[in-house]
Amino acid sequence: MTNPVNGNPKENAGFRAAEYVKDGMTVGLGTGSTVAYTMDRLAEKIKGGLRIIGVPTSIQTAMKARERGIPLASLDDVTEIDLTIDGADQIDPSLRLIKGRGAAQVRERCVADASNRLIIVADASKLCDQLTGPVPVEVIPFALGHVIRRLETMGGSVVVRDGVKKDGPVLSDNGNIILDYHSGPINDPQGLETEINNIPGVVGCGIMAEFSNMMTVIIGENDDCRILGINDL
Ligand code: A5P
Repeated sequence: MTNPVNGNPKENAGFRAAEYVKDGMTVGLGTGSTVAYTMDRLAEKIKGGLRIIGVPTSIQTAMKARERGIPLASLDDVTEIDLTIDGADQIDPSLRLIKGRGAAQVRERCVADASNRLIIVADASKLCDQLTGPVPVEVIPFALGHVIRRLETMGGSVVVRDGVKKDGPVLSDNGNIILDYHSGPINDPQGLETEINNIPGVVGCGIMAEFSNMMTVIIGENDDCRILGINDL
């Protein structure tokens, strides 16, 4: 099936990614509104006979997948994932990413790391000349003050992410607190990723600079898609 010509870039990207999912695959399911379109299309294909197992990266994605009749397994249940389809918040020209707007970056990284290939789906608003952040950082509650102080000594400022329709901080799907680290333009994404992730108490930050060699980016446009990176899936 070709993409719908519907003026919806996210839907176009999400639908195109579903075309790379083949019968029998184990598929990592990312988090966000663009991947939800992929799940819409996968649900149609499952009704048509496609057999897949999805590995969700968040509680929200698991709920959406169940609503759509997509069979699920946990990361513990699978030994490898053929392909993961996920969203992103910023994408630089070297295909380095910032993720975690939805606070799912830790599970997203685990699932990406277990995958043979990664497709990122997004609209063109996510493309940037340079990553600027803010960088989401998941922190165990015990180390909150320590991590904030360490990030502040690196320069930049730190905001504890507040809940919506909940007083107080966002708690991630893993029960941890999410910080948004405003560093300004990021000259060395890999270096900053390593520096943040090495702070004791940090579970994982949203810079993903190490996956570009196994990544295809599908940028949805009004009536088509642009493919960046590896396109021999
Ligand atoms: C979730 O924490 C993020 O990493 C998402 O993948 C990202 O925010 C993409 O969301 P949209 O597809 O809704 O833009």
